Amino acid sequence: MELFDAIKRRRTANGAFQPQPVAPEDLRTILEMASNAPSHFNSQPWRFIAVQDQARRQQVAEIAGESMRLLMEEGTFWKRYSRYFRFSKEEVDKSSDGIFFDKMPSVLRPFMRHVFTPQGGAVVNKLQVPRVLGNDAHKLVAASPLLLGITLTRTEYQEGELSALYSIISLGAVIQTIWLTATSLGMGMQFISTPMEVEGQWEKIVALLGVPENQALLVLFRLGYLPKEAKRPTIDWASPQRKSVDDLAFGETWGNPLPH
Ligand SMILES: Cc1cc2nc3c(=O)[nH]c(=O)nc-3n(C[C@H](O)[C@H](O)[C@H](O)COP(=O)(O)O)c2cc1C
Repeated sequence: MELFDAIKRRRTANGAFQPQPVAPEDLRTILEMASNAPSHFNSQPWRFIAVQDQARRQQVAEIAGESMRLLMEEGTFWKRYSRYFRFSKEEVDKSSDGIFFDKMPSVLRPFMRHVFTPQGGAVVNKLQVPRVLGNDAHKLVAASPLLLGITLTRTEYQEGELSALYSIISLGAVIQTIWLTATSLGMGMQFISTPMEVEGQWEKIVALLGVPENQALLVLFRLGYLPKEAKRPTIDWASPQRKSVDDLAFGETWGNPLPH
């Protein structure tokens, strides 16, 4: 796959992957490409943990599913992130950003827009949205053949130090490299961030993966080969919309249009 094609095709995979394990040579390729990413002073502050054992994936899935359910039940998720949610095509066209809940059971539709108000949240909970989302997350993670954690060494990722910022920038480069390589290999990839949002849950994953004290586990992904036809979860969103370059970029000084 050509680079530009992979960049354009890379998307968050919300659906299930094919069940077969990731070929060892594909995993190697992904990590070898990742190791070429830039880092401050070539410090290569990242380490990778590839989880393929079914029992361990199942344990991670339980934490991910439970985190999703708790996060939705508490209502904090909706409140914290309401500014990113779009519920109509018009809203998407207007902002060209955020995530668009374009798939959900029709009974939910009238309530989702009000999910971050106490009354709306109560209705959505009564309609079992947290349970559905928790179950979907659990199933998707458990059935993903590969979970990939990335850590940063704490000698670089140190609070208050400029090297922490540099490490995070390096991590971004490594993630995009992995994502583009996976895309080129016909694979999909999705962040599993919800356990970070619920107190105590990320620590469970850190323990499960045996991450040592001198490493900080910063991200976790699920990966696998994409099916020919994607089946979407019960409640789903998409976010291919992007702002135009002219909305994003300036020439010479802030506010000055970029020449065509
Ligand atoms: C730091 C970070 C955390 C994210 N966490 C999640 C997540 O927990 N679940 C998820 O499905 N996507 C997650 N995403 C993916 C974004 O929602 C996604 O990249 C964005 O909506 C653009 O969509 P695209 O990746 O399909 O282009 C995360 C992305 C970033 C950069």
